[in-house]
Amino acid sequence: MKVHFHLIFLLHACTVVLGLEIVTGQVSKDCILPCSFPHGEEVVIHWKKELQNVHSYYSGQDQLASQDSQYRGRTALFHEGIPNGNASLKLSKLHQTDEGSYSCYVGTKQTRTEVEVKLSIQAPPHYAMEYEKQDSERQLKCSAFLGYPKPNITWQDCCISREDTRTERTQDGLYSVRSEKNITDKAYSYVCHIQFGDQIWTADWKRADLLCRSEGGTAIIPCEVSAESSSYTITLKAIKSTSTSVLASFNSTSRSPVLLPERFYLDTDKPHKYKLRISGLTLDDQGEYLCNVSTPQYTKLTITTLQVEERTSTNSAVSGTGIGIGIGTVIGIGIVITVIGISYYLYKKGHPKQNGSAVKTVSPSEEPVALLPRDKGWTPE
Ligand SMILES: *[C@@H]1O[C@H](CO)[C@@H](O)[C@H](O)[C@H]1NC(C)=O
Ligand SMILES: *[C@@H]1O[C@H](CO)[C@@H](O)[C@H](O)[C@H]1NC(C)=O
Ligand SMILES: *[C@@H]1O[C@H](CO)[C@@H](O)[C@H](O)[C@H]1NC(C)=O
Ligand SMILES: *[C@@H]1O[C@H](CO)[C@@H](O)[C@H](O)[C@H]1NC(C)=O
Ligand SMILES: *[C@@H]1O[C@H](CO)[C@@H](O)[C@H](O)[C@H]1NC(C)=O
Repeated sequence: MKVHFHLIFLLHACTVVLGLEIVTGQVSKDCILPCSFPHGEEVVIHWKKELQNVHSYYSGQDQLASQDSQYRGRTALFHEGIPNGNASLKLSKLHQTDEGSYSCYVGTKQTRTEVEVKLSIQAPPHYAMEYEKQDSERQLKCSAFLGYPKPNITWQDCCISREDTRTERTQDGLYSVRSEKNITDKAYSYVCHIQFGDQIWTADWKRADLLCRSEGGTAIIPCEVSAESSSYTITLKAIKSTSTSVLASFNSTSRSPVLLPERFYLDTDKPHKYKLRISGLTLDDQGEYLCNVSTPQYTKLTITTLQVEERTSTNSAVSGTGIGIGIGTVIGIGIVITVIGISYYLYKKGHPKQNGSAVKTVSPSEEPVALLPRDKGWTPE
């Protein structure tokens, strides 16, 4: 009797194993929740998440009658590993809501084991920077789509300006975050960073120098890639007042010919230093040209504004200039006469002939009317 009691006590004291495991899984992918136990006979396995039954096994087979519907068809044990003490659970097509704390309980004739597994879920977001132009208003939108946990957006820019950040959450628990910024007239650069865990995605927008060319001439729009980029996508767009069109799109791996409209030519001779050449310029070519260089880590947008000046006929140009010179001369002479007149007046006022009070300055309020009679009255001539 006494021996028996002792034996049970011994068994009890050395067989309960506690453990904690931490696992990170990705939305829509699979993962394994680890759990091992000292092998024994008559294995009973219960996987639970708080009160939900995730997966059970006993009498040598899966017992799924009381499985929570959230896990239906998505769980599996490694049956061949059970005799060797492997009670790990494979969870497929992960959802954001699978995140949380799981417990694995394994009882055998000899031992009892409990392991806690903390599962955290990640969904890497898609990133984008959009540029929108409407009349004179320009806006940037920096976004992260369908990420979990919530991605963080920050701006770094030259000038103080407001931003507007909005967050949406889908039914699946994923976050889409978008931050908008109005481009101020003076700004020439904006940078947006999106932090996701230990990764940072960067988007930058730059305004290049204004290009002024005359009708019929040629304009060269630079589109450069930083030298260290080996894998990238380039998109060139023309942004007119009424529409936006893609002129060319290519990447570092595909050397497929780029289809461009007539009069447009893409110079790809120097790697990393692409140039869009537009010849035979028309007034219609006027507008903004967007060079978009993107990799999975960043997007760089460069805007070049092209202004095309109307070419007028030679005659009207000359007569126009003639009129200009004429007006200029008249204004010039007018200014000279005015300056001389004012100087003369000031000189006269500053050097009255009558007395020695030449240095006296006169404030407008006590001006000539009062002075003159007094001068006349007190100064003998
Ligand atoms: C259990 O078996 C699976 C499949 O062989 C393996 O991937 C996993 O690492 C094993 N787990 C443990 C805790 O041994
Ligand atoms: C730039 O190119 C990337 C990749 O092709 C694209 O996802 C993004 O929308 C483009 N941005 C703009 C402003 O065109
Ligand atoms: C940007 O400009 C629009 C139109 O003027 C205005 O409605 C919006 O509030 C501005 N947004 C920010 C972030 O300043
Ligand atoms: C966002 O920022 C907060 C506070 O700095 C941080 O705790 C969180 O982990 C960040 N989110 C991501 C996805 O990096
Ligand atoms: C480049 O373009 C080719 C064909 O258009 C495509 O198959 C490939 O995935 C692209 N590569 C990158 C890095 O975008």
